[in-house]
Amino acid sequence: MSPETRLLAPEAEQIAYAAMMLAQGRLVAMPTETVYGLAADARNGQAVAGIYAAKGRPSFNPLIVHAPDLATAERIGIFDDAARRLAAAFWPGALTLVVPLRGGSGIASIVTAGLDTVAIRVPAHPVAQDLLYAFGGVVAAPSANPSGRISPTTAQHVMDGLGDRLAAIIDAGPCQVGVESTIIGRQGGKHVLLRPGGLPAETIADCLGEPLASPAANADPQRPEAPGMLSSHYAPGAPLRLNAREAESGEFLIGFGDIPGDTSLSASGDLVEAASRLFDALHRADATGRPIAMAPVPDHGLGRAINDRLRRAAAPR
Ligand code: TXA
Ligand code: MG
Repeated sequence: MSPETRLLAPEAEQIAYAAMMLAQGRLVAMPTETVYGLAADARNGQAVAGIYAAKGRPSFNPLIVHAPDLATAERIGIFDDAARRLAAAFWPGALTLVVPLRGGSGIASIVTAGLDTVAIRVPAHPVAQDLLYAFGGVVAAPSANPSGRISPTTAQHVMDGLGDRLAAIIDAGPCQVGVESTIIGRQGGKHVLLRPGGLPAETIADCLGEPLASPAANADPQRPEAPGMLSSHYAPGAPLRLNAREAESGEFLIGFGDIPGDTSLSASGDLVEAASRLFDALHRADATGRPIAMAPVPDHGLGRAINDRLRRAAAPR
């Protein structure tokens, strides 16, 4: 990304600059009340792929979409009465709700990792609010640290970990909460605690008037972001063959680099572009009803995350 990351003060003009960077598909570290987030335009798949590249994340997991208010959130996800009650009680704040993705929301498929649900949060930090309103859109934002490292609660943490890979960091001092938001989802009609976090589970249960359930056995509430831990990870309906150089017997071939295929993740062999197209390509291939073949993708940089995801999608089930 950029060698000259700009360290910005939390004032209107500089926030406007950060919003402009987001609109151009660049990455901005923004303060939230939980931890600093690494934000990209959630409707721009290539920008969001840049988050993975900057963090060096070895796998794709769905990211949290940050919206300035409930009205905006409802244009992205579908809220039932219970979800609205939680939003009314705890937004803005350290609560993330996983709700069905609204059709036509425009959210890039890499944000949801191809799922039909979306995680949304309205942050309470005034600077995050100002940035979202100035940008006029929604951002995907995981914690702004290199993969596997400790979450950042100051701008200096972000600078130390990712300083050379961002357009800007907005320094608004230390985060108040210091741990990530609590994530609540639905499974079998029950509210489940997908990730303990800054808002106590008991407080949420009190609001709902019922205890929170534990996620299904194949999801680990302590490490929901661990590869393969999400119960609902996307897998195509048809078999998927990896490392294919050409299509066999009716296969839909997803190309890469000099293997064109029926569609290509990136004809130029650009791994950031490939990452941003991965889930769309799998969905489109799946929609043909044909078996799917996938050209080899080099196993470095974002290629590692792409291959991790492809191996999961190809695994016997
Ligand atoms: O406090 C926070 O939540 C911070 C700050 C920056 O806002 N953000 C954060 O975002 O932690 P992120 O993107 O790292 O959170 C990703 C986690 C995933 O590991 C997964 O547990 C959950 O959110 N998640 C996202 N989308 C999901 C979905 N559709 N279904 C289930 N879980 C989902
Ligand atoms: Mg994190």
